[in-house]
Amino acid sequence: MLRAIDENTITDAAIEQMAATPNPRLKQIMEPLVKHLHAWAREADLTPEEWLEGIKFLTAVGQKCTAFRQEFILLSDTLGMSSLINSLHDKRAAEAGTKSSLVGPFYRQDSPPMKLGDTIVTKPTNGLEVVLYGRVTDRAGKGVPNASVEVWQPDETGNYDLQKHDPSEMDLRGHFHTDSEGRYYLRTVAPLGYMIPMDGPVGDMIRAQKRHGYRPAHIHFIVGAPGYREVVTALYLAGDPHVDSDTVFGVTESLVTKVNEKDPGSPIPTLPSIKFDFQLAAATTKDMTGRVGADPSQIVAKA
Ligand SMILES: [Fe+2]
Repeated sequence: MLRAIDENTITDAAIEQMAATPNPRLKQIMEPLVKHLHAWAREADLTPEEWLEGIKFLTAVGQKCTAFRQEFILLSDTLGMSSLINSLHDKRAAEAGTKSSLVGPFYRQDSPPMKLGDTIVTKPTNGLEVVLYGRVTDRAGKGVPNASVEVWQPDETGNYDLQKHDPSEMDLRGHFHTDSEGRYYLRTVAPLGYMIPMDGPVGDMIRAQKRHGYRPAHIHFIVGAPGYREVVTALYLAGDPHVDSDTVFGVTESLVTKVNEKDPGSPIPTLPSIKFDFQLAAATTKDMTGRVGADPSQIVAKA
């Protein structure tokens, strides 16, 4: 007998048709997706014109993506999805560690290997030079030697290398390894907060919602070591006017740091410094990557 399809029975009909999905995890993901997507359309009482607008929007988001620009990551970030998925990821850890934050759309693989104390600044700058230092420890506070510390950030005007130079060149990125006691230190410039890229469909959405579009000043990190869960995070600078209203919801209190003018404990005490200790949770066999995002060139190949 033919089923009567209406605005309610359509949900079960769609889920039933997917019931034979052989991959159990795909099934587990798709069923609630359909359920909540349908519930959303019913709750909003979506019209055909509006749904078509949505399809046009998503098409534009896809068309804006290149090997150097990831509009879908930006959409995920500005809808709070990236932050939500980070929180779910943190909850799954076997033990507590430094909280996750966003990868964002400006991460690049293969940042240059550097030695402790090196500067990640490769272009002329008017920024305030600072030392970034601290330790990478386990849950018990013991230093993790030779831990990988990848760092990337915008400059003192709030721009990443991907936005201002020839994108084939890297600036304000570096890949360090901790010493035998888990210590890291490097030189850089204090970053400025920035407006997310507003020249695409996500910018249109942000303007339509009367949101300011800013991210507070921050420095991105990926920290990891064999036997530990990789942490993707960022440090935020206290005092930034948008530290309480990040457009992509990356800020959490434990990740807010400040620039100390004088710090006798700094490895280079003549410079202002930012100190932060990263704590890594032990890895479990279930741990997957915590990177909500990727180097844009890993999603859309370079032409
Ligand atoms: Fe960023």
